[in-house]
Amino acid sequence: MEKLVIDGGRPLSGTIRIHGAKNAALPILAGSLLAGGVHRLENVPNLLDIGVMLCILKGLGCRAEQQGETVTVDTTTLASSHVPEDLMKQMRSSVFLMGPLLARFGYVQVYQPGGCAIGERKIDLHLRGLQALGAVIEETPETIVCRAEQLKGADIVLDFPSVGATENIMMAAVLAKGTTTITNAAREPEIQDLQHFLNKMGARIIGAGTDTITIEGVTELKACHYSIIPDRIVAGTVMVAAAATRGSVTLQNVCAPHLTSVMHVLKRAGVQMTVCGDIINISCAGRPKAVERIVTSPYPSFPTDLQAQIMVLLALADGLSIMKETIFEGRFKHVDELGRMGADIRTDMSSAFIRGVPRLYGAAVEATDLRAGAALVIAGLAAGGRTVIEQIHHIDRGYDHIETMFARLGGQIQRFSPVEQIIP
Ligand code: UD1
Repeated sequence: MEKLVIDGGRPLSGTIRIHGAKNAALPILAGSLLAGGVHRLENVPNLLDIGVMLCILKGLGCRAEQQGETVTVDTTTLASSHVPEDLMKQMRSSVFLMGPLLARFGYVQVYQPGGCAIGERKIDLHLRGLQALGAVIEETPETIVCRAEQLKGADIVLDFPSVGATENIMMAAVLAKGTTTITNAAREPEIQDLQHFLNKMGARIIGAGTDTITIEGVTELKACHYSIIPDRIVAGTVMVAAAATRGSVTLQNVCAPHLTSVMHVLKRAGVQMTVCGDIINISCAGRPKAVERIVTSPYPSFPTDLQAQIMVLLALADGLSIMKETIFEGRFKHVDELGRMGADIRTDMSSAFIRGVPRLYGAAVEATDLRAGAALVIAGLAAGGRTVIEQIHHIDRGYDHIETMFARLGGQIQRFSPVEQIIP
């Protein structure tokens, strides 16, 4: 198993370009199945999850390849709507394939995605949405089969603004007969990106970014050339790392409006930021201040995907901060690991009480999930001494060579594979 070894305690400084958004690229890759032809996608990050999605597309009969940040998907030879079990189990996001494959073939078989480290993660809202469009669904403990000769537009009200359910329903509805409205839709920037991509293919969607999305069904879509938005979670991770190490970093290729709630919290913590177009400068000279209360909620509120990372900054802040997690029930696994590094954090159900300490210390820790892993990297960069992080495949799901990114900013961070020796 590979591990990351970090000799921390040095302020990060320099300039870094932020890669494309994983959470935008995954549904867009799934959405490419809606049209026959050759799609060219730019600004696609080089990540484990993207690799799995490309393997799934190949498994379905497409040609798909990534060169740098450009992905070409040729769906002309798409032949199957049965997602292979082993690949489905590797990545929950394969549920996105249901909408497009059902719309294209009138049939799709996938495997139950199951829960994951951060919570139960049901897909009932996805299935109810597809049912409302006319799909007949058969579920067994292992599989889900959806059938519909012709999907029909419907008025769908989501009980909760689920990101994945909104995207799946949008992709199923673009080829449905008639008009679909999704009320209480998720408003994340990645949903707007999906709308822009699908409209470029010839779909007729309005409203993404608001809580009501209207999709007028069309009979056919065509392949297109599209560039993915920058990853706001990777940008937020680098911003928190810059602040936690009391450094000064310039981020390029960021969309600052996507980070409004994050920048608001960082300002309250006493972090300095300036924005100029797609560039953010961030610095933090002194000890950060505690933030009384942060609540994770759907966009535009503070994102659950940055909860673990910001907790590292608060763990070093002056005073008591409170973090309430409202999206996922199992998302405090990093707390015990940060405790090994000297953090003083207590949890009670969905709240974490973070009493800032002056410094963290290097320790041997384990990444339990993607964002928890990113938080440990930040903690390792800020801590005095050496931190060794195991189970880093979780981090590779969402960050393109995180060690290279932070080494460019002066972080002493290296990846070791099992055969390589760590020099004491
Ligand atoms: C997406 C993001 C993930 C992020 C999350 C919340 C992708 C690939 N992943 O995940 O990084 O953390 O949004 O911002 O974009 N729920 C149900 N039933 C459903 C669907 C969801 O109960 O049918 C619940 C989930 O269990 C969870 C909450 O709704 O508690 C949010 O889930 P959702 O918005 O769907 O997140 P994902 O799309 O899975």
